[in-house]
Amino acid sequence: MLKVGVLVSGGGTNLQAIIDAVNTGVITNTELRVVISNNKNAYALERARQNNIEAVCISPKDFEERSMFNEALINKLDEYDLDLIVLAGCMVVLPETLIKKYPNKIINIHPALIPAFCGTGYYGLRVHEKVLERGAKLTGATVHFVDEGTDTGPIIMQKAVEVMEDDTPEILQRRVMEEAEWKIMPMAINLIANGAVSIVDGKVKIKK
Ligand code: GAR
Repeated sequence: MLKVGVLVSGGGTNLQAIIDAVNTGVITNTELRVVISNNKNAYALERARQNNIEAVCISPKDFEERSMFNEALINKLDEYDLDLIVLAGCMVVLPETLIKKYPNKIINIHPALIPAFCGTGYYGLRVHEKVLERGAKLTGATVHFVDEGTDTGPIIMQKAVEVMEDDTPEILQRRVMEEAEWKIMPMAINLIANGAVSIVDGKVKIKK
């Protein structure tokens, strides 16, 4: 069984898609051990509780220094003996020590087709605002491994989504979630849980 911890910050619709996929057997061989949020009001925590998954809040606001928050987050994750950490709408910049401690064991969902519309400052609704500002006709979502850079790790899976002329950032965000994010994140976890994902020369290979 792949032991998974999920880091969240907000509504948790990606978390819900993962929970549903485990419950319906779309994801196999996987145990969701803990959900950790930096925001105590995140609805994602409620989703975890409703599904009998441990829900924990570790907020930088509760610590005098960032280093103390980082240490608390790492210690909490270590408690669960995790094989995979999933960033599902996690808006916290992860400490480098955590990334080094879990090499190729952290994955993230980004709401655009990397390497477009990604990097520092590109998160949440802002990504979709930028896509619309640029007049892009196609966007999508990407699941990738997390390395020390911002959105620079090996790409596991991507799905394209059309941009419509009268989209607002909110409408586009919803379409990207429905058509791409909620599908490719569960698929990627299932592939990892079943040993189908490897990294060769910095690129992901998927066993067919
Ligand atoms: C999702 O669109 C996710 O791709 C994005 O935040 C949203 C969280 O929604 N993540 C990032 O922008 C990370 N750079 P959710 O809480 O409903 O899953």
